Amino acid sequence: MAKFLIIGGGGREHAIGWRLHAEGHEVHAAPGNPGLAELGTNHPHPVGDPAALVELAKTLEVDLVVIGPEQPLVDGLADVMREAGVAVFGPSAAAARLEASKAESKTFMAAHGIPTARHVTVTSLDEGLAAVRTFEVPPVVKADGLAAGKGVTVAQTHEEAEDALRACLQGGAFGEAGATVVLEQRLTGQEVSFFVISDGTHAATLLPAQDHKRIGEGDTGPNTGGMGAYAPAPIFTDAVRAKTMARIVAPTLAGLRAQGRPFVGVLFVGLMIDDAGDPWVVEYNVRFGDPETQPLMLGLQAPLGETLLAAVDGTLTDQALPGTPAATVVMASAGYPASSHKGDRIEGLEAAGKTPGVTVFHAGTRGSAQGELETAGGRVLGVCASADALDEALRRAYAAIDQIRFDGMQFRRDIGRRASLV
Ligand code: AMP
Ligand code: GLY
Repeated sequence: MAKFLIIGGGGREHAIGWRLHAEGHEVHAAPGNPGLAELGTNHPHPVGDPAALVELAKTLEVDLVVIGPEQPLVDGLADVMREAGVAVFGPSAAAARLEASKAESKTFMAAHGIPTARHVTVTSLDEGLAAVRTFEVPPVVKADGLAAGKGVTVAQTHEEAEDALRACLQGGAFGEAGATVVLEQRLTGQEVSFFVISDGTHAATLLPAQDHKRIGEGDTGPNTGGMGAYAPAPIFTDAVRAKTMARIVAPTLAGLRAQGRPFVGVLFVGLMIDDAGDPWVVEYNVRFGDPETQPLMLGLQAPLGETLLAAVDGTLTDQALPGTPAATVVMASAGYPASSHKGDRIEGLEAAGKTPGVTVFHAGTRGSAQGELETAGGRVLGVCASADALDEALRRAYAAIDQIRFDGMQFRRDIGRRASLV
């Protein structure tokens, strides 16, 4: 058994901690959340304080630090840990550039022949406005840097694309992150979130997952951090998988290695699968996705702890990690995503957690002054279930949701419906 320190405090981190705890490992988290507190020890160290986190890892004598969110990875937390002699699962700042800069990631893909949409990178409004009209279909407009999932506009008209350009390059909508903009040809097809655990050379893959980004049923309304997810995604057949490994995963890992920045951690390839069954990269992330990680951890039929340790030791083998179907339905606070209400009392979690196959992951919860559980804004809970078949997993998740109540709660009733009808 090993001792793990998880950096972060959302649904993703709770799911990773839950899985490691279920495997018998000791779980610490910084800062963690009330869900993680039930299965391990939380430490109040903020994600943005590398010196304090190194000190904590050393004091606890952990076997492995697992970094959840992108910001500390982009800021070099994994490098600081490694330099201090602490074993850490997560890429270097150099490898994390794949997520930190969309312009750089497009250049990387072009250099390595990795299939992705045609693009133009611009840094001035004049350049941008001229480029917009070179796209027959209105282009997707992307702020270059990290923008908490809000930096992308899938424009329906050329005018909308121009407005998005103005917001970035004139209005400073995303600050420095929007000072460079990528215009990209719009891709059509079905999106898949594909997670590859790597030691820099080998790939251990998780089940292909699908996220539901829009707030409203039928994929309507504004984008969110993700209102639900399920795995496996039926569109990702063995044939699609083989193409993805050969055309995307292998050249990405080899390309980074050749550039002296081997990828140790989990590479999240956001894919569009077109009508011909060909995969295209929509974006790279350098961490586990949220909420996708929740069903993936609940359904995983292989040891996570050993796999993460092997990635860091450089002893991973190429494999497709097996898993059972699972789904998570996110319950968000009132007003989300435009605003987010805090302090609403949450009831019924204990009963919900007793539904067979169900685990409720905490994302935006906190203890009230009276010691009760209340909302802390944004996405509050991930109600997650696994079963032999996806439709049964979904039935279980929704049965558990029926037990839960908080003021203004919002959730989608159509999570996974597309897949469960296949
Ligand atoms: P990203 O942050 O790059 O993943 O973009 C957020 C979302 O915008 C993606 O999950 C897609 O739904 C959409 N998107 C991004 N790029 C494209 C594209 N080239 N074509 C169609 N949709 C896209
Ligand atoms: N669910 C998408 C992400 O984590 O970026």
